[in-house]
Amino acid sequence: MNVTHLECANCGLRHEAGVLQNLCVECGKPLLVRYDLEKAAKTITLESLNQTSSLWRYREVLPVENPENIVSFGEGWTPLLKVDRLAALLPVKLNLFIKDEGQNPTQSFKARGMTAAISMAKELGVKKVAVPSAGNAAGAMAAYAALAGMEAFIFMPKDTPKANIIECEQTGAHVTLVDGLITDCGKIVAERKEAEGWFDVSTLKEPYRVEGKKTMGYELAEQFGKRGIATGGEANREVILPQLPDVIIYPTGGGTGLIGMWKAFDEMQQMGWIGAKRPRMISVQSSTCAPIVRAFDKGERFADEFENASTVASGLRVPKAIGDFLILDAVRASGGTAIAVDDADLIAAVKEIGAATGIFAAPEGSACLPALRKLIDNGSVHEGETVVLFNTGSGIKYLEAFS
Ligand SMILES: Cc1ncc(COP(=O)(O)O)c(C=O)c1O
Ligand SMILES: [Zn+2]
Repeated sequence: MNVTHLECANCGLRHEAGVLQNLCVECGKPLLVRYDLEKAAKTITLESLNQTSSLWRYREVLPVENPENIVSFGEGWTPLLKVDRLAALLPVKLNLFIKDEGQNPTQSFKARGMTAAISMAKELGVKKVAVPSAGNAAGAMAAYAALAGMEAFIFMPKDTPKANIIECEQTGAHVTLVDGLITDCGKIVAERKEAEGWFDVSTLKEPYRVEGKKTMGYELAEQFGKRGIATGGEANREVILPQLPDVIIYPTGGGTGLIGMWKAFDEMQQMGWIGAKRPRMISVQSSTCAPIVRAFDKGERFADEFENASTVASGLRVPKAIGDFLILDAVRASGGTAIAVDDADLIAAVKEIGAATGIFAAPEGSACLPALRKLIDNGSVHEGETVVLFNTGSGIKYLEAFS
């Protein structure tokens, strides 16, 4: 176990690990887990990685102390697929990949966050968990809570895709549908959690979901990496020589995935896995709910609430994100950008991706394709670059969007 403490991402205040924590006690912003990375680097080897074909292969940089507390369906370590037939539809030649997160348990990358959060909740003695969700996080939480034997309380907008509502009910969660947005659901959890004895698992309002999601960054480094023979202290051992793509295109709601990957890159640098070079991080939103894009364009560090937010890509319907400054900091520091696409284009892209790759993408994931076209048009992505589109979930959860 290499965790040293929790640290406020805004004011830097140190918080104790090993006890239940939500937000910074001083400024109310997210807490991030910090590790002794020098120690972690010594034991995270090709052999240790190969022991598990789930995201728990990165145990040295994940928070659970006792392995018996790990609540897992075998999530993560999803395929990184080279999609040449899709690339051929674009006006410049790219090395194009899709990281297919739809192949996770409960069919989305939300499984990554929930395996970490529910495992830590178990380790810290939690019996009841509550979450506001756009849909996929709820489905994942319900499943992991059922596996762990915890009671799950879920608050979702009433127009959440039906599959998400049904999967939560069928895995034993208490589901409340709210006439409002995810931000309204979050307010209900915040108001009731103390009286009800719920641990609030809202994204970035507890420190561990982002830890699970950061493994997407580790996986990219490992999957793009080459195997080679070490020359330094570990001379003559086979090691992974991690590598990253030039561009990562990521559909952004609460931003936990993007923030997590950015954190992973810093950790990998501190462990000597990579140098200072980073992929350009592209945050994609729907033009009818684009608070991050608006703040990026205005040069602001915090994003105002986006009024009358709506989009068929329900995971992107997040009008106000508590980690807004972390998303914007990462995008800017990477030399990337934030870009909005219309719902009609992201829905059309589901079929285009499907026909060219066989992947039935979630509308959030498909939004990466029209975003890439815009980036090529405005000269932000160039011939010969290696680009990863994140398909964060499966289209199978959104059947009403296609009827
Ligand atoms: C399929 C899908 N993609 C993307 C997102 C946005 O994720 P994040 O909160 O990491 O920005 C969500 C969130 O609900 C989602 O369900
Ligand atoms: Zn703080």
